Amino acid sequence: YKALLFLFSSVLLGLDRTLITCLLLRTEGELDEEHWGLHFAACAGKQQSPIDIQRKKVVHNVQLLQLELSGYDRPLQGDCTMTNNGHSVQIDLPPTLSISRGLPRPYTAVQMHLHWGGLDLETSGSEHTLDGMRYVAELHIVHYNSADYSSFEEAKDKPNGLAVLAFLYVEGHLENTYYSEFISKLANIRFAGQSTKLTSLDIQAMLPENLSHFYRYQGSLTTPPCSESVTWTIFDSPIVLSHAQISLLENTLLDWHNRTLRNDYRHAQPLHGRVVEASFQAKPRQGMGQEGDGLQTISIR
Ligand SMILES: *[C@@H]1O[C@H](CO)[C@@H](O)[C@H](O)[C@H]1NC(C)=O
Ligand SMILES: *[C@@H]1O[C@H](CO)[C@@H](O)[C@H](O)[C@H]1NC(C)=O
Ligand SMILES: [Zn+2]
Repeated sequence: YKALLFLFSSVLLGLDRTLITCLLLRTEGELDEEHWGLHFAACAGKQQSPIDIQRKKVVHNVQLLQLELSGYDRPLQGDCTMTNNGHSVQIDLPPTLSISRGLPRPYTAVQMHLHWGGLDLETSGSEHTLDGMRYVAELHIVHYNSADYSSFEEAKDKPNGLAVLAFLYVEGHLENTYYSEFISKLANIRFAGQSTKLTSLDIQAMLPENLSHFYRYQGSLTTPPCSESVTWTIFDSPIVLSHAQISLLENTLLDWHNRTLRNDYRHAQPLHGRVVEASFQAKPRQGMGQEGDGLQTISIR
């Protein structure tokens, strides 16, 4: 991978930014993330997301169990709606998918969506960073606590309401054929508001094979209202897509203004004493990145 770009916050502040909608929560109007806290108190809270995961500070917790994903092991036939919501591409998931073990409560799937950057700007677009490194893109699979709440809407701003599984993407040489239908159908939803159907969706195949290594921490939605309701699980094994696939992801969709949709990420938030746990002994990778100080990020592609 090319370790490339230094992104300074000041540069980003100058960009014309459209707030992305993570987790279906739309915010209209333009508002820099520095000002979110003025309008949404939780955004200035002490358990915010995303974060930079610094491997040498991560605590290995042997009691973190590998998640048991139910319903993910067989392809979903038909009726999977994929939508360009103007902020991301979102795939609605049926309630037959769930996290059945590994968290204190069962969590039922709602939707998944991606965060990416832009090829022209040579910027990567993951929200979470590892040792200051920003990855090409990030997948979020959103679940709600179906033991304590009756719906995503009810759970989204409640304690332990949501569990999001996050996966980071890197660029590789081979086409990832499990993404072929997803990538090719982006052309059907070029304009914001458009939807299409996926004929067969094998989500497990779209994820890394080995899910045993992950990071865990308590955080929030990454867009207003920034509710501190999310148990985050970030997997250590990345998903590999080819250059051509990443390029299509970054350049196909348009936003509500017919501009190429490059959904922005929120900057790393302070831990405020939170401890990031890992299911394994996390070691900093040699020669990679600097310690994230919130100012600079190395973008890998
Ligand atoms: C996953 O990877 C870890 C570390 O490389 C290994 O210990 C474990 O056995 C693997 N699990 C499976 C199911 O392959
Ligand atoms: C975007 O482009 C489409 C197709 O050319 C057009 O119908 C639509 O009005 C455009 N929207 C805006 C906001 O310009
Ligand atoms: Zn998201």
